[in-house]
Amino acid sequence: MIQPIVFRDNTLRLLDQRRLPAREEWLELTDPQQVIDAIRDLVVRGAPAIGVTAAYGLVLGAGRLRESRPEFDQDFAALCDRMTVARPTAVNLAWAVRRMQAVVAEHPEAAVLALRAALLDEACAMQVADVEANRALGHHGATLLSDGATVLTHCNAGALATAGYGTALGVVRAAVELGKSIRVIADETRPYLQGARLTAWELQRDDIPCTVITDSMSGHLMQRGAVDAVVVGADRIAANGDVANKIGTYMVAVLARENGIPFYVAAPTSTIDLELATGAEIPIEERDGEEVLVIGDQRMAPEGVPAAYPAFDITPAHLVDAIITETGVARGPYDTSLRACCTATEGG
Ligand code: MRU
Repeated sequence: MIQPIVFRDNTLRLLDQRRLPAREEWLELTDPQQVIDAIRDLVVRGAPAIGVTAAYGLVLGAGRLRESRPEFDQDFAALCDRMTVARPTAVNLAWAVRRMQAVVAEHPEAAVLALRAALLDEACAMQVADVEANRALGHHGATLLSDGATVLTHCNAGALATAGYGTALGVVRAAVELGKSIRVIADETRPYLQGARLTAWELQRDDIPCTVITDSMSGHLMQRGAVDAVVVGADRIAANGDVANKIGTYMVAVLARENGIPFYVAAPTSTIDLELATGAEIPIEERDGEEVLVIGDQRMAPEGVPAAYPAFDITPAHLVDAIITETGVARGPYDTSLRACCTATEGG
């Protein structure tokens, strides 16, 4: 299974997702600022992968901070602030940073050396737990897919976007492991092409049939009966079940409802933000319009024409047929069912 994040000998190795599928290149990072840059520049992307990467970034940072407390605590807090704002939408980033901060807060008397070891343990635990959560949610979700189903997905919510196995693609993988024959239609996902470059790459490696389409083709295929279910990941889910995910997801959800096709969101409970009542409160990352205008070396519009790039959109809860988590499948009304999923995680 692809593991896009490897931490060994005080070095964080990240599979550079900007280069896939043309090249499998690994970056070796030893400095927390390199990690912040890697998250911001999309070397690593996908909500759970960003969270685990940030945790290891803080481990690297902790190794370089002042040796005595409370100076260490002060420096660590400042580093956490810088890490948290690397990207705004995926709540897993802030969630992971908070967990690392809790380690420091829970050991007020510990020597810095011991604290560093505890922080490394916490980051490793998060990485292991993410894969376990994805396997569990995958198996819950697999029961929703029938043998022979064609699943449409948007963006990349696979092993590359997590610590491993994937969320939306975890559901597909689990269904295949159960012996079901599943085909995937991958929206290319303009402008960064996570679907064409990353989802297709992962599925090809796993021998799961995958067809890439441009984002504008999904409505036509749904209307023609070529799609049995939509499964996507999430960057943040508000308490009422509104879902932030890659730009274009909302459009897919509307089309799915129009065509009577179930629309499922697969995400670990670390992506659920019970502190936000609705999706209107979720910060949407605005990226540089140049990323829309230029593909590789090729400018797609006349020089001087501006472009907008909201990187995520909000799918309202009423368009979501189920939210698949590691503790079970939540259905509307989500205010109660999502809270129950999160409580089950804490209990477990
Ligand atoms: O901008 P990205 O590539 O980080 O956006 C990723 C997505 O929107 C994914 O669908 C989401 O993070 C879920 S990943 C399991």
